[in-house]
Amino acid sequence: MSANSFDNADFQAALVHELKNHLGLLGMTLDRIPRCGDPDHDEPLDAARLLCEDVTDRLRQALWLYKSDKGVRSPNVDAYSPHDLIAELAARTRALARDRFSVETRLSEVLPAVVFLDRELVEMAMMNAIQNSLAYAHRRIALEADAQDGWLVLTVRDDSDGYPDHVLDSMAAGRAYRAHGTGLGLQFARLIAQLHENRGRAGTLELANESGAVFRLRLP
Ligand SMILES: Nc1ncnc2c1ncn2[C@@H]1O[C@H](COP(=O)(O)OP(=O)(O)OP(=O)(O)O)[C@@H](O)[C@H]1O
Ligand SMILES: [Mg+2]
Repeated sequence: MSANSFDNADFQAALVHELKNHLGLLGMTLDRIPRCGDPDHDEPLDAARLLCEDVTDRLRQALWLYKSDKGVRSPNVDAYSPHDLIAELAARTRALARDRFSVETRLSEVLPAVVFLDRELVEMAMMNAIQNSLAYAHRRIALEADAQDGWLVLTVRDDSDGYPDHVLDSMAAGRAYRAHGTGLGLQFARLIAQLHENRGRAGTLELANESGAVFRLRLP
């Protein structure tokens, strides 16, 4: 292989890909350790699983950013069942939440059988919100899907203390904000929403505080 055919960025992407796969395996290994009811054992185990999933999601985002640097930025839209999408996200959330949180799903009766979206991207955006809820909620997390005026509305709702005002203000103004972590999660989710376009309409991310934080993707 010549030095030029495989540049540094490709090498970094291949490394990130390998790290992501190894972490996936580490996560599956952790899943095989049974809980025993002793908090000294179960709590660090849950924390390790959560961290593993969080880092895996981040590496997935890094890979997507790498691909989008290479010019593949348009979403890869296909037909999916919103019912399956929510069921799978709920299963992942329940596996991470164990008995620390209740995880409910609410599916509107008017939801179509199939919707058109880039599943990988939408899952990344939703998992960002779910990771936030797992960090900030007290007891409850709900995943919802609805259809309104031809838009698909996907919501992650929790019973946390809500988004800080400066985060809501900065997101409304399209600015970066101070955060506990990298502060990229919500901005990345908004980018994913905006990349979804249909008949001249682009997706949006809405954040609100109701009786907790409400994260809402509207996709055209
Ligand atoms: N469900 C939530 N409840 C309360 N506050 C939240 C919730 N989700 C996010 N926040 C607040 O919004 C900030 C920004 O969230 P964002 O996901 O963008 O970044 P982060 O979680 O801090 O970092 P990262 O996602 O990189 O770990 C968080 O630091 C936190 O203060
Ligand atoms: Mg986050």
